Amino acid sequence: MVVSSAPGKVYLFGEHAVVYGEPAVPCAIERRATVEVEERDDDALRVHAADLTLDGFTVEYDSDADVQPDVDVAPGLIEAGVGYLNGAAEQAREAADRPDAGFEISVESTIPLGAGLGSSAAVVVAAIDAATRELGVELTPREIAERAYQVEYEVQDGQASRADTFCCAVGGAVRVEGEDCRAIEDVPTLPFVIGYDGGEGDTGELVAGVRSLREEYDFAAETVETIGDIVRAGERALAAGDVEELGRLMDFNHGLLEALGVSSRSLDEMVWAARESNAHGAKLTGAGGGGCIVALDETEEAETALKYTPGCEQTFRAELDTDGVRIEEA
Ligand code: PMV
Repeated sequence: MVVSSAPGKVYLFGEHAVVYGEPAVPCAIERRATVEVEERDDDALRVHAADLTLDGFTVEYDSDADVQPDVDVAPGLIEAGVGYLNGAAEQAREAADRPDAGFEISVESTIPLGAGLGSSAAVVVAAIDAATRELGVELTPREIAERAYQVEYEVQDGQASRADTFCCAVGGAVRVEGEDCRAIEDVPTLPFVIGYDGGEGDTGELVAGVRSLREEYDFAAETVETIGDIVRAGERALAAGDVEELGRLMDFNHGLLEALGVSSRSLDEMVWAARESNAHGAKLTGAGGGGCIVALDETEEAETALKYTPGCEQTFRAELDTDGVRIEEA
């Protein structure tokens, strides 16, 4: 039996634009998905998931059975969850050259599901690490990131960048531009405050929405390019340790995401609550449509303001996690 974990992430800058080759800077946070994998005697896959902000589900199936577990969450999320784990198991079988390996997989996560904090990437990365180790193969974080990207790409019908999976495999702050993925060194302390509206966005649908706006209007395509400019300015602010400037650029980035139609009333309300409490800046994180915002504030004020914001279900601080995927138990 092997247990591995991987962190969730927030986007400091660049979600959506990264899909079209602009750079993005996601940062791993100290909220983790933990995956336990045990090899089975047969070739089946049995998945048990707890704490995925749902009541938990168990589903047993072989690779081609089409089983729908009976739980009270959006079927899309369950389908995706099962798809991600199926994909992770497939990657481990391939890496270990054991096409018939079966697994018992348990998932526990403190990362809200589908909320822009990279829950699926963390689950896939931790599952690939645990399953390959269980079969006696050790992959580097970069190799795991690449395999996890292949899984996300498939489950999300090609609407995925390498940002989530690379960030959560290597940890810390990273820069992703197309296939070029690298760690960012010497990051200043980033006082992240997260607000969560309890909802979730459909990543595939939101990405498709931006894609069609971009095709229809030149100014939407330019908006995507401008997000790239914000990311490059953000990288300079990060290198200079200028947290105030980072906040200003986050505000700008949120405005452009809003213009591209991927924000929502509750995300905007949380962003404004954080801004009005003198946070350095605030923006939605991830695909949008619902889910989480991230603000920069070293005081208690943004967190307190978010607590009293209608539509904000949960608020918490999150430190940058410099650890990527790691083994917890073998
Ligand atoms: O909501 P998340 O954590 O799945 O992030 C999606 C980020 C996008 O840029 C919209 C898509 C991608 O794969 O980069």
